Amino acid sequence: MANKNFFIKTYGCQMNVNDSEKMAGILIREGYISVEDEKNADIVIVNTCSVREKAKEKLFSFLGKLNAIKKKREMKIVVTGCVSQLLKDEIRKRAPYVDIILGTNSYFKIKEAIQKQNYSDFQFYKQWIEIPFEPILRRNNFSAYVSIMEGCDSFCTYCVVPFSRGREKFRPSSSILKEIRFLEEQGFKEVQLLGQNVDSYRDPETGMDLASLLEKVAKTSSIPWIRFLTSHPVKFSIRIAEVMARYNQVLNSIHLPFQAGSNKILKLMNRGYTIEQYLKIIKKIKEIVPSIAISTDIIVGFPGETDEDFERTVEVLKEVEFENMFSFKYSPRPGTKAYYFEDDVPDKVKTERLIYLQNLQKDIQLKNNLKKIGKILRALTETVNKKNSDETVGRIESGRIVNIKGGKVGEFYDVLIEDAGPHNLKGSIWEGGFE
Ligand code: SAH
Ligand code: SF4
Ligand code: F3S
Repeated sequence: MANKNFFIKTYGCQMNVNDSEKMAGILIREGYISVEDEKNADIVIVNTCSVREKAKEKLFSFLGKLNAIKKKREMKIVVTGCVSQLLKDEIRKRAPYVDIILGTNSYFKIKEAIQKQNYSDFQFYKQWIEIPFEPILRRNNFSAYVSIMEGCDSFCTYCVVPFSRGREKFRPSSSILKEIRFLEEQGFKEVQLLGQNVDSYRDPETGMDLASLLEKVAKTSSIPWIRFLTSHPVKFSIRIAEVMARYNQVLNSIHLPFQAGSNKILKLMNRGYTIEQYLKIIKKIKEIVPSIAISTDIIVGFPGETDEDFERTVEVLKEVEFENMFSFKYSPRPGTKAYYFEDDVPDKVKTERLIYLQNLQKDIQLKNNLKKIGKILRALTETVNKKNSDETVGRIESGRIVNIKGGKVGEFYDVLIEDAGPHNLKGSIWEGGFE
């Protein structure tokens, strides 16, 4: 085989990013070469997301671009991920020039797939498929994603994930710990444990839950920063907060989506909790970990959402004061239960609600960020500032971005916070020591 260049375009969540890193690792081990963009690639892999209509349409517009290149020269186009799993026929129809389609559970067959003509595989596995972690081509050499479970059994009525990723599959903790030990030896400074419902984790061999796994990682590894996402309120155990409080390495940061503040809407969404139950969990977490940074996801304009229902969401936002919020307009997804509900909130109203929430959240973030001025906070730098090469950009424990004067990428710094906006902080490296 002549060495062939490949490029992977990734849409969607961290899980998809991690799957792309795994595919890249497999190909590099086989002698393929990773390139920066599609223009120089013989093989283009598009790892797709189907969570909202917009994500799907982005795929088809990118595929159109690839087809224009393919008309001029040889190129193999591979589509993987959630759109593949759900909409293979639509891909075949709208983009017949695609060579290979692989479902979400078959990404690890990428090598076999590209060596064949017209390969496709959509098999779902009941159990975790372990692949060698050593070759994984990480985003960088200091912060690593480690998948610990995949799939979802919750069936929120709006969501495609249970269909695109299948039922929950848990990775044995022995493999997770081995991967983390390996990362530690490589000098990684942060690991992020990933799963669609990370807190429903149960070791298939020992029954260990997420709280115990986090404790074990904190006790047995010297990785300084450990994060995990995404948590589901129904699966959340308060022991997770206790582990956070006990071990400095387990960062005081949690992503715990509530989606909507109205119990009527939560019920229609099949979220499995009332807003009172959600707020009780938040209260308990705050009691155990007073400095906790909580982030959330919200959907606006779900079928049947009235102004009063939306007002409940606003109230929750004001009450909890989230560190971060990701909000989305409801997008009907074929194959889900809510697809058959009437999408009765006009797009204009969805947009208004979205903008309202985002402005409110911006004010909350600005207020909270301003309180950080004058403090010295530890940050892990991730990149050089694109707009100013004298600055590095890092994250503090809460996940908030901080622009730092000077510094190197991939290092911890104690940063004196000097300025703050709604979305980021600014500061300089503190070398004065602590009193
Ligand atoms: N497993 C995670 C989230 C997965 S999808 C959880 O349960 O929290 C990420 C986010 O996309 C969701 O939290 C939800 O806010 C949003 N989302 C999912 N389906 C959607 C849809 N059909 N329309 C709009 N937003 C959606
Ligand atoms: Fe989707 Fe709900 Fe599962 Fe999250 S818990 S992945 S929103 S079905
Ligand atoms: Fe998207 Fe699939 Fe992730 S639908 S959000 S890539 S699980």
